[in-house]
Amino acid sequence: MDIQWKDEFALGIGIIDDQHKKLIERTASFSRAVERGDTDGIGDTVNYLLAYALQHFGAEELIMIRNRYDRFKEHRDEHSWFIKEVYDVYCRMADPESLSPRELTDLRDFLVRWVLDHIMQKDRDIARCLPPRGAEKK
Ligand SMILES: [Fe+2]
Repeated sequence: MDIQWKDEFALGIGIIDDQHKKLIERTASFSRAVERGDTDGIGDTVNYLLAYALQHFGAEELIMIRNRYDRFKEHRDEHSWFIKEVYDVYCRMADPESLSPRELTDLRDFLVRWVLDHIMQKDRDIARCLPPRGAEKK
């Protein structure tokens, strides 16, 4: 399943858009490792994705808090859910034999779809709580 940055994903919030590009790149690296059936690569890219997702979600949540975003709690739950899912994949990669290629592909498709849907729908709504462009709090 292909995933790459498209300009239509941009929210117009510079700091978040830059981080979303990186999040998509890391998701794409994971996706390619699954495609190749590269067990070591899957473990490394999941680790890399997990680390970046934590960092990015923290920054995004701080923007929401500072702007008193009315759906912050619901949004934070979505982030937590994603981290827990990726964490499960990371733990299971300690014993790669525990995941069949089919399970890995399904998990990959699921995570890729989550990232795209989240950026296109949930994150888009954050812009609603921000001051006019150029005046956003960092
Ligand atoms: Fe988000």
